[in-house]
Amino acid sequence: MNNILVAYFSHKGEAYVNGEIQVLTKGNTEIVAEMIQEKVKGDLFQIETDTPYPYDHLETVTIAQREKRLNMRPALKKTLGDTSSYDTIILCYPNWWNTMPMAVYTFLESIDTNNKVILPLCTHEGSGLGNSEREVKKLCRNAKVLEGLALIGGHVRESQSQVESWLHHNL
Ligand SMILES: Cc1cc2nc3c(=O)[nH]c(=O)nc-3n(C[C@H](O)[C@H](O)[C@H](O)COP(=O)(O)O)c2cc1C
Repeated sequence: MNNILVAYFSHKGEAYVNGEIQVLTKGNTEIVAEMIQEKVKGDLFQIETDTPYPYDHLETVTIAQREKRLNMRPALKKTLGDTSSYDTIILCYPNWWNTMPMAVYTFLESIDTNNKVILPLCTHEGSGLGNSEREVKKLCRNAKVLEGLALIGGHVRESQSQVESWLHHNL
């Protein structure tokens, strides 16, 4: 099925997982996005900013807070261009300050989402999807945004069956 796009944002480096700082060589969301791509065999696209976020957790948190407060749209390293061959976008991102990272806003505004089905998936440390589903709906007014899935970041590797049943129910 190459009519499915799996687009994800994920941060490597220090992360606050299960109440402590850990070093992630692969981000939680990246793990799920790859799991999904393997399952649905769609195209995988990583949303990356031109200026990478720091390794340091607190520095990243501070930058992300400012970007959210100022409603910024960080520039992306690469854009996707033509999305007309996709009818479904599985959008994976971490919860940053109760919504998705501002780079995901940049991404959604850079592609044509009209008439597409969007499945939001958010990894988090307690806030679930936060406001992110509402924000995706606001940015993609002519898309059909289905009920999102929230996964605790530190448990993504054990979430396979939950992810599969969510996909099964929505695809
Ligand atoms: C900048 C920043 C802000 C965050 N804000 C929240 C938050 O508001 N609520 C929450 O539950 N988790 C929050 N987290 C935790 C992440 O959502 C969680 O660790 C996620 O699984 C990280 O995914 P990743 O490894 O793919 O980047 C935040 C993490 C960062 C780096």
